Amino acid sequence: MKSWRASLLRFGEHGHAVFERDGLLVTGPGADGRAVVLAAGDHAALSPRYADVPCTHLPGRIIAPGFVDTHIHYPQLDVIGSPAEGLLPWLEHYTFPHEAQFADRAHATEVATFFCDELMRHGVTTALTFCTSHPASVDALFSEAQRRDLRLIAGKVLQDRHSPDGVRDETEQSLIDTEALIKKWHGADRLGYAITPRFAPSCTEQQLRGAGELAARYPDVWIQSHVAENVHEIEWARALFPDSRSYLAIYADHGLMRRRAMYAHCIHFDDDDRALMRETQTAAAVCPTSNLFLGSGFFDFAGAERVPFLHALASDVGGGASFSPFITMRAAYFAARATSTGLQPKPGVSLSPEHLWWLHTAGAARALDLEGVIGNLQPGCEADFVVLNPEATPLLARRTRAAGSLAELLFALIVLGDDRVVERTVIAAPQQGAPSLRPA
Ligand code: GUN
Ligand code: ZN
Repeated sequence: MKSWRASLLRFGEHGHAVFERDGLLVTGPGADGRAVVLAAGDHAALSPRYADVPCTHLPGRIIAPGFVDTHIHYPQLDVIGSPAEGLLPWLEHYTFPHEAQFADRAHATEVATFFCDELMRHGVTTALTFCTSHPASVDALFSEAQRRDLRLIAGKVLQDRHSPDGVRDETEQSLIDTEALIKKWHGADRLGYAITPRFAPSCTEQQLRGAGELAARYPDVWIQSHVAENVHEIEWARALFPDSRSYLAIYADHGLMRRRAMYAHCIHFDDDDRALMRETQTAAAVCPTSNLFLGSGFFDFAGAERVPFLHALASDVGGGASFSPFITMRAAYFAARATSTGLQPKPGVSLSPEHLWWLHTAGAARALDLEGVIGNLQPGCEADFVVLNPEATPLLARRTRAAGSLAELLFALIVLGDDRVVERTVIAAPQQGAPSLRPA
């Protein structure tokens, strides 16, 4: 067992923030030998019970749940900051040529290592990640995540049409590869597999159908794709699948909407789309820095509350501009204020800092069907957490010292914070004295 004394942030069942200014977090081995939260709460109340447990005291610091990024592309590390008119030219000119390099396992391993370093440096302890269409890209990332004991979900991209040589895969082989990767990686240590059709325009009917069949055969595997991001993309998808009611409905029509399915963007939706999300328990990965960078539009947060469906925050690197959850939360705040999606009017709302933070931690875990497992620091949760320094820059120090409430403190961090705030990222590693999980 170990304990940590600092200010402590976590979330209650209904998404409300719970904060102890002088808190105690006690961790110890869980059922699988990895560190879980044994107790969390006020230091004065808890410390007598854990008097014998070694304690790391971190005065002036905040312990908070590790961030959960619900949509990111590890092969797009070197695509960040590549400007284009919009999504489709960006894919063609930058993304596909970069992704073609991931047929080379050594290149994939180098990028995967840098990528995992960046996640952890920014306080992200779980990510739902796209690889490329090359199975070697999946092996490279999972091997690296496994070495670090990260809880990570990823998958081989499916794209058997409208894709250039070097990234285009072959229908039947792509499904064989996907199933082999599921068997190899899903449930290995903390890893999970996601069936990953790139987006409807890059997949034939047969490939989507095959992906849907795999999703039915492996119900606890995740599904990830993109939808309703960009006007031209939407027109294209509708023209390719004229029998489906909407772009989103293409995925439902191919068995690709269910719990554990996560669709990036979901900007240009109508209420029937929202109802379809809700009925199928499908989740949206909201990617505000990407949407701003590529000029895609603004997610309708009020719409997602009015016809409620699961949604959470994501970086979408390399369309997204930063790994930092602080920068993503900040962009989400700005996007929520916008009074149009870019196509249609929407209410401009002011999201609370507690809610923004929840959407990137416990709410993201809920969207991924991992509530109570990650994204929070309640007893039983895996002990992935960050140590934050609210005085990491002169302006942050000045602003957070003047904060008169939790909301003011969290808002200051969201508006002024970035990777400099993240002093340490702690991963729920196998515990000393617990049975070893891997042969030495
Ligand atoms: N749609 C299809 N592929 C992609 C991608 O790589 N990034 C984004 N943002 N949208 C996509
Ligand atoms: Zn994406």
